[in-house]
Amino acid sequence: MTANSSPWPGRLAVYPGSFDPLTTGHVDIITRGARLFDRIIVAILVNAEKAPLFSMAERLEIARDVFRDLPNVEVDTFDGLLVDYVKRRGAHAIVRGLRAVSDFEFEFQMALMNRRLEAAIETVFMMPAEQYSYISSRLIKEVFALGGRVSGLVPEMVEARLRDKQADLARK
Ligand code: PNS
Repeated sequence: MTANSSPWPGRLAVYPGSFDPLTTGHVDIITRGARLFDRIIVAILVNAEKAPLFSMAERLEIARDVFRDLPNVEVDTFDGLLVDYVKRRGAHAIVRGLRAVSDFEFEFQMALMNRRLEAAIETVFMMPAEQYSYISSRLIKEVFALGGRVSGLVPEMVEARLRDKQADLARK
């Protein structure tokens, strides 16, 4: 196959998720993805949770700020079926992070369902650096809410926003 007949023109990938909030594990995967693909779109799911801690505007602002110096990272939102969004954007790959074996079952189901829905779209699994393998947005929110330190586990902007939210709650 010649370079011109590549089935992945432009090697554009979509990295979907809720990102409520973005963690250093996500940042690690996106940075790796940006080296592997010509362009990677961080696609934030609208309405993933009924009551997200971070509004969509905040999640967009945070991700755009964190990746402001990586020109091949785009941040966008999507709703509806992921494969429809991926197709609409002209991408051919979905990137997902695999932290541990426990992630595998759900990720495997999603990858195969997405393939059944759209056979031309491949899911590419990437592993974060091992020091991030236990981080999840859910645990970050829980640990912070209970007074634990999350520095180094989320971008500084996320930590600052978490503190603001806590201060707002304390004032009420
Ligand atoms: O950060 P998350 O919550 O692990 O991301 C899950 C996400 C957004 C990838 C998944 O919920 C999703 O793709 N939702 C869009 C709706 C969809 O396409 N569902 C079928 C997936 S097989």
